[in-house]
Amino acid sequence: MRIDALSNNLPSLFAGAAEYYVRYRSEYPAVIFTELATRLGLDGRQTALDLGCGPGMATFGLAAHVAAVTAVDPDHEMLAAGRALAAEKGADGIDWREGSSETLSGLGVGPFDLALMAASFHWMDRPATLAALDELINPGGAVVIVTGSMSGLAPDTPNRPVWAEAAYATRERWVPSRRRWRDDASSSQSTYTLQRGESRAVLAASAFAGIDSYELHWQRSHTVDELIGLLMTVPDLTPTALGDRLDDFRADLREALLAAQPDEPLPDRHFVEPIWTQVLIGRRPTD
Ligand SMILES: C[S@@+](CC[C@H](N)C(=O)[O-])C[C@H]1O[C@@H](n2cnc3c(N)ncnc32)[C@H](O)[C@@H]1O
Repeated sequence: MRIDALSNNLPSLFAGAAEYYVRYRSEYPAVIFTELATRLGLDGRQTALDLGCGPGMATFGLAAHVAAVTAVDPDHEMLAAGRALAAEKGADGIDWREGSSETLSGLGVGPFDLALMAASFHWMDRPATLAALDELINPGGAVVIVTGSMSGLAPDTPNRPVWAEAAYATRERWVPSRRRWRDDASSSQSTYTLQRGESRAVLAASAFAGIDSYELHWQRSHTVDELIGLLMTVPDLTPTALGDRLDDFRADLREALLAAQPDEPLPDRHFVEPIWTQVLIGRRPTD
């Protein structure tokens, strides 16, 4: 039996997104990992798990501070993209594995000094994932939860730009929230289970209740076509999810984005994406 999303007879939530991910999202700023290394005392000898690694947006930054990373994701296209990027960068010491929070205990990986989940924890059964990690993380170890590397459509992003509101409205027109398959998915059966609510509270109730956090505000600038490519990495908007509606959707989105920011003439018009990355560290409390 396969251990990826197909074992649930569900398509990968991110099917078709990997190439857009690599091209249009970016790795997290290195300062996030230097700060993490300071707080956790990482000195290049530790072992780490990157759960929900995607094509490695956090994996490579993390790998710079530890001896080895096991990078796990249920989406084989994401893993293939990660392996290709690793080869390009000459980054060895990363073991890319197909699996998920649900199959973690059976993968034969670990133990680890830390487990990082970047823009992925909210797709997991969080208490069950932390219980599984409790078995895999060494005494003195930690879990690290990082929020996204793109503000995209998130309504709670501080200083959310006007173009993001236009993108959100376009998304709502094309994929009304009530029809988004993640909302329809049978949550207890799905590899992809959107979790609402605060991760901090879930962490506080786990074996990793010694909480510390920090955050970074950063930004990126996109042309309109780069921005459309970036939005193709959002689950409901991937080329696979949109199918034969893709070209019409892209045209509509383009028009909405340009109307939302009608300042400079094309092709110089740039869209600034403010990004707010929060890092939540949970350590085993010391007695
Ligand atoms: C938004 S992407 C984040 C990728 C990367 N970590 C980053 O920060 O850019 C979310 C990733 O989580 C993976 N994922 C979703 N549900 C998962 C689960 N239950 N266990 C492990 N990974 C999961 C998806 O396949 C996807 O690659």
